[in-house]
Amino acid sequence: MKIAVIQGPNLNMLGIREQHIYGPMNLEQIHEQLKNAAAQNGVELEFFQSNLEGEIVDRVQECLGTVDGILINPAAYSHTSIAIKDALSAVELPTVEVHISNIYKREEFRQKSVTASATTGVISGFGPFGYHMGLIALMQIISEIKAVSEAQEQEITE
Ligand code: DQA
Repeated sequence: MKIAVIQGPNLNMLGIREQHIYGPMNLEQIHEQLKNAAAQNGVELEFFQSNLEGEIVDRVQECLGTVDGILINPAAYSHTSIAIKDALSAVELPTVEVHISNIYKREEFRQKSVTASATTGVISGFGPFGYHMGLIALMQIISEIKAVSEAQEQEITE
């Protein structure tokens, strides 16, 4: 099983930026922990971070046919990017959107995610642990999808 981890703008500044909101861990440390958790479950992760909307759109498009699911924190683009939402809708992969902070108890402009409607579900407010929660959710969803398609194949060959 392969999962793309896509990180949006300013997440490369974690550990430096607004520690009272996002905590002390940097992105490398978050990815290292996530990689270990994934490896224990036989899951391969592909990490990507960009501050540019178009690069994130390109990365989402590349996921088609190359990974089984997407774990994404579109960061500030969650609130504005119809282009990223459309890319997620286009690839139709199991997708979990993660927010380190609880966007629903922050400024009004953060309380709406336009990208969320193209995802399977959203995890918000659990700090970096949200990525682990998202990974577990994706492993479950992808396994269920694989089980259904294997059962269908079995039916066809019988
Ligand atoms: C964020 C929340 C966004 O509103 C913000 O722009 C971010 C990070 C989060 O993980 O809590 O950059 O996505």
